[in-house]
Amino acid sequence: MNSPNNRIRIFDTSLRDGEQSPGFTMSGAQKIAFAHALAELGVDVIEAGFPNSSPADYSAVQTIARDVRGASIAALARCHEGDIEACARALERAESPRIHVFISSSPLHRQYKLNMSREQVIEHAIMGVTLARKHVDDVEFSAEDAFRTERDFLVELFNAAVATGATTLNVPDTVGYATPDEIRELFRYLRANVQGADGVVFSAHCHNDLGLAVANSLAAIEGGARQVECTINGIGERAGNAALEELVMALKVRQGWYGVDTGITTPKLLDTSRLLSRITGIQVQRNKAIVGLNAFAHESGIHQHGMLKNRDTYEIMHPQDVGWPASQLVLGRHSGRAAVADRLRALGHVLDDAQLDLVIAQAKALTHTQHVVSDADLLRLVAGDHGDT
Ligand code: KIV
Ligand code: ZN
Repeated sequence: MNSPNNRIRIFDTSLRDGEQSPGFTMSGAQKIAFAHALAELGVDVIEAGFPNSSPADYSAVQTIARDVRGASIAALARCHEGDIEACARALERAESPRIHVFISSSPLHRQYKLNMSREQVIEHAIMGVTLARKHVDDVEFSAEDAFRTERDFLVELFNAAVATGATTLNVPDTVGYATPDEIRELFRYLRANVQGADGVVFSAHCHNDLGLAVANSLAAIEGGARQVECTINGIGERAGNAALEELVMALKVRQGWYGVDTGITTPKLLDTSRLLSRITGIQVQRNKAIVGLNAFAHESGIHQHGMLKNRDTYEIMHPQDVGWPASQLVLGRHSGRAAVADRLRALGHVLDDAQLDLVIAQAKALTHTQHVVSDADLLRLVAGDHGDT
């Protein structure tokens, strides 16, 4: 079997799969601002939209293609002439344009969505890839619902796409049905059986319906995928796509296991996530990995004590690596003596045991009516103001 290299291409589809999901619609100006942020983050490919879906999408893709540098700009098309021609026009001024053509491949989709035979699907795929290649050198072909497609047919379809000039073969788990073991095995099978597999990049596009999108993308990489399609904050159809920040940090933190790298400037992850939240008005949950407010916050006394001795006890990465200024020892109902003493020291107060006991008791009393004890609360308590006038 061919041996793929160790660089994983990050294909961001926040502006296409993400933007087309309920609650995440963006204006043209917002899309352009976000595309610039993605380029600065270091993504390899920005899927900017689906130009033939609306004049607004067309114009956003066109402006991104004209203005954003440093990443390939991709646009999505069905295997329809009108879609592909619209992509070609919208991408005319891109530094490195990619047309991404797709067609459904699974029996369910062939019967109920396309009403096409296997042969007709292959004919459409050949037409789509051939036409896209007339416009650009970089053509991605996706077999929608690939994971639920018969293997012999998937190989036949990918063979046709490679023979007509596709440079990336994308294997979407469109409905988030795969498990990691299965998807790893599917990628190994495709790499061993598709003709010309050595000359193309295999790509994973995992949806999160069972909460497995990141795990499945990592397994796909083990199976030989060298492009992963993902979105900031994991936005996307239904439960979303694989979250870029989680995937990239899993590859970085566990580099020794996966042995691959990405081109992402990870300290920009938090700002990029927050920019998306500001644009869409939708915050990530508190306990979201990497970018949630609790991702580097510790409240329990036992954890805080460990953190004060050696941060590695409860943190597997440095907060600065993903853009946080520092970890946070939050003072709350579960906090212990060590954290309160440490915070007071940082605020310039070294108390004796009795004074410390008193402040801790008063601080705990505050947590009956508030979640956390702030620096201002601590300073008031040290000054003898218990707030109970
Ligand atoms: O989930 C999917 O199958 C897609 C394709 C268009 C790549 O988004
Ligand atoms: Zn998708």
